[in-house]
Amino acid sequence: MTGQPIPVIIDCDTGVDDALALLFAVRHPGLDVRAVTCVAGNTDVDGVVRNTLTVLEQAGAGDIPVARGAERPLIEPVRTAQHVHGRDGMGDLGLPAPTRVPVDVDAVTLLRREILASPRPVTLIPTAPLTNIALLLRTHPEVVRNIERIVFMGGAVAVGNATPVAEFNVWHDPEAAAVLLTAGVPITMYGLDVFQRVLVPAADVQRLRASSEPALRMAGELLAHRDPATSGDPTPMGGLGDAGAVCAVVDPEGITTELLPVEVALAPGPTRGQTIVDRRPVPGESEIHEGTREQPLVDVALDVDVERYVKLWLTVVEGA
Ligand code: BDR
Ligand code: CA
Repeated sequence: MTGQPIPVIIDCDTGVDDALALLFAVRHPGLDVRAVTCVAGNTDVDGVVRNTLTVLEQAGAGDIPVARGAERPLIEPVRTAQHVHGRDGMGDLGLPAPTRVPVDVDAVTLLRREILASPRPVTLIPTAPLTNIALLLRTHPEVVRNIERIVFMGGAVAVGNATPVAEFNVWHDPEAAAVLLTAGVPITMYGLDVFQRVLVPAADVQRLRASSEPALRMAGELLAHRDPATSGDPTPMGGLGDAGAVCAVVDPEGITTELLPVEVALAPGPTRGQTIVDRRPVPGESEIHEGTREQPLVDVALDVDVERYVKLWLTVVEGA
């Protein structure tokens, strides 16, 4: 690692795998985590704030400002994923309540403040529904001048999880995702196609669970947290999930991306929340007969070096 750390802000809905992302980010010497903002998603926003503070405390992170953000999507009600992440959104591990407290400004205010105050352009890493980011872009569009890139976990090229075609973060607030895609800054989509593949082998999960360090035990328990009803996978491997998006910031060579047009389906019905990724090499009849529709171009992750990211995550988290 050479040069100065990359200034980043993580917008999350902690969340079992958001916790794994936070732990990695605060322990990576090449990242300068300037703020963490919270949004409703995996659990309600107050639960997300509590879980985020708990993770930072357990990780022994420095004094990173944490702010509470949107408590519901732009249009629809909150639809949490507690059946995946547990009643408390963190696998119901019985972790102690945090002594840290959030800052007394909202997430959008903190995002604006930290982005504009950064001496170098900030990389945003949303690992949650994109409500906070959409509100930021609409309220303070001037922030884009100091955003380097947005690397978001969300969307899917092939198969969804919230619906057959829609990934949870985009499905939870499709309008917000559409705002993000038209932000006018470089964007990387770390979608389900790669997200679901980065699994930590069982032996590593067991080693973490047996660690004498509380943060590593927490990581091991979070990795081991699987809901057989949704994963259908009996092996005790642990998915890094959102943490892979942070790996993609520090090690972009670990993913294979293609710059492709991406559109969010907003119409009510079975496709709502789908990210439609145009992988055709040439225009089709629709464009020929009806004219070209301009879609934002996004660096879409199509492949990931699984071993490389697992090794990176373990090395950083355990080596701290
Ligand atoms: C997303 O949903 C949550 O389970 C994960 O934290 C991730 O943000 C994947 O669809
Ligand atoms: Ca998440």
